[in-house]
Amino acid sequence: MLFIDGKKISDDIKAELRQRVAFHKLHIGKVPGLSVIIVGNNAASQVYVRNKAKACIDVGMNSEIIQLSADTTEAQLLGSIAELNGSPNVDGILVQQPLPKQIDDYHVTLAIAPEKDVDGFHPENVGKLVIGKLNDGFISCTPYGVIELLRRYKIETAGKHCVIVGRSNIVGKPMANLMMQKLDFMNSTVTVCHSATPDLSTYTKQADILIAAIGKAHLITAAMVKPGAVVIDVGMNSVPDASKKSGQRLTGDVDFEAVKNIASAITPVPGGVGPMTIAMLLSNTLKSFEQQNKLR
Ligand code: GUN
Repeated sequence: MLFIDGKKISDDIKAELRQRVAFHKLHIGKVPGLSVIIVGNNAASQVYVRNKAKACIDVGMNSEIIQLSADTTEAQLLGSIAELNGSPNVDGILVQQPLPKQIDDYHVTLAIAPEKDVDGFHPENVGKLVIGKLNDGFISCTPYGVIELLRRYKIETAGKHCVIVGRSNIVGKPMANLMMQKLDFMNSTVTVCHSATPDLSTYTKQADILIAAIGKAHLITAAMVKPGAVVIDVGMNSVPDASKKSGQRLTGDVDFEAVKNIASAITPVPGGVGPMTIAMLLSNTLKSFEQQNKLR
């Protein structure tokens, strides 16, 4: 069984990015900058945002966290985004989701300048992904991280049956669109399952590559996996754990301990896809910087 080590690969990617950031600093005296907006005090989001900012500093990029109160209006948030769109020091803009009820996600997505949309959520970037212009726009960081794991572990995907469980705009839908592209480390036959799919295991058992992104702890059991399948776990579920100081721990959508015995390759949680999401966010921010400064 191949253990797909997302922590190691993300460290490799960050080392590559650190070198390129240092090169730009030396030659043009500027480094990329990421601005992250967070609205309210969702505990998990606070941790994610801090980790994103720390990762920027770690590779030599600038980062700022803009903390807005939970009662921020949509108009106020759109005002902050407009300022960042116009700022020459800001290469990447990310508005952490989920957002409070009074704010419409879609309006926020549309407000971010597509050329600074390092989350890859703007319809212009989603459209470029769908039509296969991957170099032109930005790809959503988590699915992009999964592709990068497949690429760096040289996992054969062409002609394989990839079954994705989950259809979110952040993971499931872009993941499916990537896996069907006629490109290396994609080029699969793709099935997308979701919460309304009856008898899920009928589909998951047919997967050569199974990608779980539905947000239900240990939904994927060993009985649902074909022997020899490649299993990618995108789940980030908090479950109670009395042995931890916080009283909880992070676990995936896959029953790792059981599934690892039948899979040919598997990602753990934590230490699998999670660190890759941040690495690809940094990669997108560097790409934006290079595009804005006409360096690519
Ligand atoms: N919330 C959970 N994942 C993400 C992500 O990739 N980007 C943003 N903006 N919010 C998230």
